[in-house]
Amino acid sequence: MLLDLRLGSIHETRGFRYGQSRRRIQRPLISPSWLGGAHGVILEIPWTGSQRFLPIPHPSALFQGRDNVTNYLDPWPFWRAPGDPVWHPSAMSEGYWSDNDYFASYADPGVHRLMIQDHARTDAYRRAIEAVAKGKRVLDIGTGTGILSMFAARAGAAKVDAVDSSGIIDVARELAADNGFADKITFHRGRAEDLDLDSEYDLVISEWMGFFGLAELMFESVIHARDRYLTPGGHMLPGQLRLRVAPVDDSHVHEDLGIGLWERPVYGLDFTRLLEAEVQSFLTAACDLKPSSLLGPADTVLDLNLDSGTADDFFFTSVATLPIEREGTVHGFGGWFEVDLAGDVELSCSPMHVQTHWRQSFFPVRPFPVERGDVIRMVMDAQRAESGDQRLPVYFLDGEVFRDGQVIHRFFYRHHGSFE
Ligand SMILES: C[S@@+](CC[C@H](N)C(=O)[O-])C[C@H]1O[C@@H](n2cnc3c(N)ncnc32)[C@H](O)[C@@H]1O
Repeated sequence: MLLDLRLGSIHETRGFRYGQSRRRIQRPLISPSWLGGAHGVILEIPWTGSQRFLPIPHPSALFQGRDNVTNYLDPWPFWRAPGDPVWHPSAMSEGYWSDNDYFASYADPGVHRLMIQDHARTDAYRRAIEAVAKGKRVLDIGTGTGILSMFAARAGAAKVDAVDSSGIIDVARELAADNGFADKITFHRGRAEDLDLDSEYDLVISEWMGFFGLAELMFESVIHARDRYLTPGGHMLPGQLRLRVAPVDDSHVHEDLGIGLWERPVYGLDFTRLLEAEVQSFLTAACDLKPSSLLGPADTVLDLNLDSGTADDFFFTSVATLPIEREGTVHGFGGWFEVDLAGDVELSCSPMHVQTHWRQSFFPVRPFPVERGDVIRMVMDAQRAESGDQRLPVYFLDGEVFRDGQVIHRFFYRHHGSFE
């Protein structure tokens, strides 16, 4: 019944933010006397004056006592409708996206559906694991539904240990039993960093990549597990990470995710002040780049061997050299990652490949014109966030555009990573 759905509301408790603000969810708590299930939450969204229904993935017996509803929701995909202001976890107060929230979001089967139905991703992992897992002792960090562990067990791994800190691991254990792997895979619930396993492994497998590879910073947990458990001569899967960037000319992406909206009168009003505020601190955003939007070839800003690289190596300072191959306008830079999984299996999020759920990341800039033969030389600096969400890196783009050996344009921007 509809009335049963009203469990709480979300209120803005601090100032409105676009670009750099501090908006906070006042987390709706279930009354201590309340115990039972629900099909969703009606959220009041003050900044649009609207209400939105958020479905809850498991409609029964989820809540008890003072449970926090938002622990069971990953609200962003549900509540951001076309036309809503862009609002993002990275904009929230420090510490909002706690580990509990993070792991709770992975308890949602819908998130795993999204990942598993990404065929480019899942089938690449299947092929790579089948190529190398036979006879190996395998450790799966962040097993989720257990799908990679089941690939390994089916491929003849000597043993498989699977780790996850999210409640999804309870489902994974049952799925493994359903598929005849109960005695082949051992599931361990907990953070990879807190594990105390009494074994070494020949192969550590993990699907840890966030948007533009680095978001979520799950690589830190995987590197930690590698250093503790990988036997000398053992391997990581994936074994190599590359981050690539290319200049983008795409007025639609500029309009949707860049500052295009503020360049013209907004309902007859001058909004250029907001443009000036936004260029001080951009957010990256996922987008579908067309190969024809690239003004020239991509360059690699990080090329990291995951058998040997350290967690600090993921935060890098690198120079990209980007030759312009046709006249146009640079609206921003497209970024994506590629990983070599094992053998010759590569997973690429390039716009030239089959689209993955990561798509590409867009780093907007204030547009500037370029001509064929120009060269952009851009220092990209990826750093740990000093404030805000610690699972999202911050990127600095410091660039110069050369024409006939002369600098014709300079730019410097800061971009916050995002969960999309
Ligand atoms: C991107 S999902 C991958 C799930 C599954 N391996 C797959 O490929 O479909 C990452 C998983 O890692 C888990 N995870 C992230 N950080 C972790 C950590 N430090 N310790 C244990 N599990 C972690 C999350 O809960 C999530 O289920």
